[in-house]
Amino acid sequence: MSDVRVGQVQRLRDITAEQLAAYPSRAIGVLGVAGGNGLDLINPESTDVVYGYDINADYLAACEARYRDGLGHRLHLVETSIDRSVTIERVDLLIANLIIEYVGAEEFAAFAAANAGSIGVLSCVIQRNDAAGFVSSTDYASSFDALASVSSDIDPETLDSVMSDAGFAVLGRCEYPLPNGKTLIRQDFRAT
Ligand SMILES: C[S@@+](CC[C@H](N)C(=O)[O-])C[C@H]1O[C@@H](n2cnc3c(N)ncnc32)[C@H](O)[C@@H]1O
Repeated sequence: MSDVRVGQVQRLRDITAEQLAAYPSRAIGVLGVAGGNGLDLINPESTDVVYGYDINADYLAACEARYRDGLGHRLHLVETSIDRSVTIERVDLLIANLIIEYVGAEEFAAFAAANAGSIGVLSCVIQRNDAAGFVSSTDYASSFDALASVSSDIDPETLDSVMSDAGFAVLGRCEYPLPNGKTLIRQDFRAT
């Protein structure tokens, strides 16, 4: 993996640490969990259950191999496509880092609305391309095989708007510039 991509993985891991610290939770869900970047930051002593959702069974198998020992019976990995038809288990914190690009803002908001009663805080990370026309060959997010979905940039204002329409209040936003002309944007929401 290139240095730039490793840096993006590390940055996302750092953001996951911030999400977990901001909202101490006994039940945690991760949408687009992939190989489980950051799951090692979850303290098993203070956590009852961790749900990881992904469309790709191979990524879930890697996640299982890496984190079953550390999280034990708390870890539940679910192979599914995230869309409005999915029902998730109740969680205090639902993390959705670099998955909305694959699902689409409207469909993601419909998913959130359908599951509003099961979500305490929803903390999302999207990626903004600040260098117009620049396609990075070292982009961590676009390196994933999303099995049929295509990744496309999400506008943070649009996400706020569709989430508001879905009944979620904005809790805050943070920006994290990357060295490859992109910026990771974290947006947190709570069901109203
Ligand atoms: C960029 S990766 C996520 C990175 C990870 N969250 C992290 O923090 O490092 C995107 C993940 O979303 C998954 N994915 C894409 N479309 C999906 C969908 N419709 N439903 C569920 N998972 C999906 C992909 O298989 C991939 O594992």
